[in-house]
Amino acid sequence: MNKQEEIRQLKQEKDAVLLAHYYVDEEVQKIADYVGDSFYLSKIASSLNNRTLVFCGVSFMGESGKLLSPEKTVLMPDASADCPMAHMVSKAEIDEARSKYDDLAVVCYINSTAEVKTWADVCVTSANAVKIVRNLPNKNILFIPDKNLGRYVKQQVPEKNVMLVKGYCPIHEFIKPEEIKALKQKYPKALVLAHPECNAQVLEMADYIGSTSGILSKAKESDANAFIIATEVGVRYELQVQNPDKQFYFPETLPVCTDMKKITLDKIIEVLKTGENAADVVKAHVEPAKATLTRMLELAK
Ligand code: 13P
Ligand code: SF4
Repeated sequence: MNKQEEIRQLKQEKDAVLLAHYYVDEEVQKIADYVGDSFYLSKIASSLNNRTLVFCGVSFMGESGKLLSPEKTVLMPDASADCPMAHMVSKAEIDEARSKYDDLAVVCYINSTAEVKTWADVCVTSANAVKIVRNLPNKNILFIPDKNLGRYVKQQVPEKNVMLVKGYCPIHEFIKPEEIKALKQKYPKALVLAHPECNAQVLEMADYIGSTSGILSKAKESDANAFIIATEVGVRYELQVQNPDKQFYFPETLPVCTDMKKITLDKIIEVLKTGENAADVVKAHVEPAKATLTRMLELAK
């Protein structure tokens, strides 16, 4: 039996489904039942009836899955796969802003720990952040932890006072503007599609800014047939599946999220067999963190 067959058999035995982010390795995306961006994965996790969810991604994704489906077992193929940005904000920063603004809404990117979510009023993903911030009744917004997505939201919603902290995704922050510029010179007809986690200079060169799903939709619906992609390279697999005749160019220094790449078929088999690495959330964090996610799902409708 090969690894794929073993996973299929174990999934049946354990009543399990595999959810994967576009940034995990191609072979994991191929075997997954559902592949998507963070918003899609959080929505689908709350709607599935299976007993076990295997989250092929980083820990905040498993935690969010567990918060939205506490009765399910949520397995993480690699418990050490973590998003560094998820930790890049302190409670003191939030307390300071709350003490200054009575009407403050703390808006928290889903790429955050369950504890960080407990400090917030609502969660967002890159697919719905602009819409949710625009529609909140609050004028003063503290956006945590991603300064890049926060800055993009601030530009899109100028009628609000959006304040930022200093967190960032190391993969997107360090995409080099000069490498995007060089690609633009080499392929002048190519459209630049960028994730809002990128730094300001890269986003200034973008023809389109959106989540991983947004980038996929844009590439599919566009009449152009060449694209410069400013996001993690795992998305290349689905871009090519959906657009076999189009060309996709990534920066020379490939943006690779080493945490997402920790997910392998062997580790999926292992957790399905042993039940190890079940996502869990500290009891005191469950209700307040869950409230921010359910509010997001409501406001994103
Ligand atoms: P999206 O899934 O919202 O595109 O965000 C990308 C990301 O960095 C996930 O870790
Ligand atoms: Fe975190 Fe960036 Fe990796 Fe996404 S790509 S999990 S934001 S480090």
